[in-house]
Amino acid sequence: MHEDIDHVVLSEEEIQERIAELGSEISANYGDEPVLLIAVLRGAAIFIADLARQMTCPVEFDFMAVSSYGSSTRSSGVVRILKDLDETIEERHVLVVEDILDTGLTLKYLLKNLATRKPKSLEVVTLLSKHGKQRVPITCKYVGFEIPDEFVVGYGLDFAERYRNLPYIGVLKPEIYTD
Ligand code: IMP
Repeated sequence: MHEDIDHVVLSEEEIQERIAELGSEISANYGDEPVLLIAVLRGAAIFIADLARQMTCPVEFDFMAVSSYGSSTRSSGVVRILKDLDETIEERHVLVVEDILDTGLTLKYLLKNLATRKPKSLEVVTLLSKHGKQRVPITCKYVGFEIPDEFVVGYGLDFAERYRNLPYIGVLKPEIYTD
């Protein structure tokens, strides 16, 4: 385990097992219809790569980047599109791939924005959802894990841009935030 990690919340095996289940469930729902996976950078980059490889329906990728936490651990509530999609989503099945649903502010803004572009369908898969934390109601069709309200890193999630490459999800030692 990395020396900065206090404890592991989800092991590599647990994450991969759940992603395989999600991949089968999602693929069964779309059948032969092509689905456009839209990952929200940067956190969801690792999840989209693993999820797509567990899907059997035709899959395409696009990416968006929105402003979120910077190096702090609290949601600012301010959402800004830093990178927009490269292609149109009109009349396409869209599945937004998110790393973590915390307050829901980011996703609420994103879904409202994407809905105006008239996709054929618009759903969300999030790997993690913080229990009891959502400030705005969001319908997430697919949720990997409900986790307690703690700041987590690893598997795409960062603290000050670090720890994204850990294959598991864990909580940092308290002194890492204060140093
Ligand atoms: P929301 O708008 O509060 O739902 O925040 C969503 C975004 O905040 C996520 O996509 C992450 O980038 C970031 N975030 C929220 N909670 C955590 C966490 O525990 N660790 C790392 N990033 C987080």
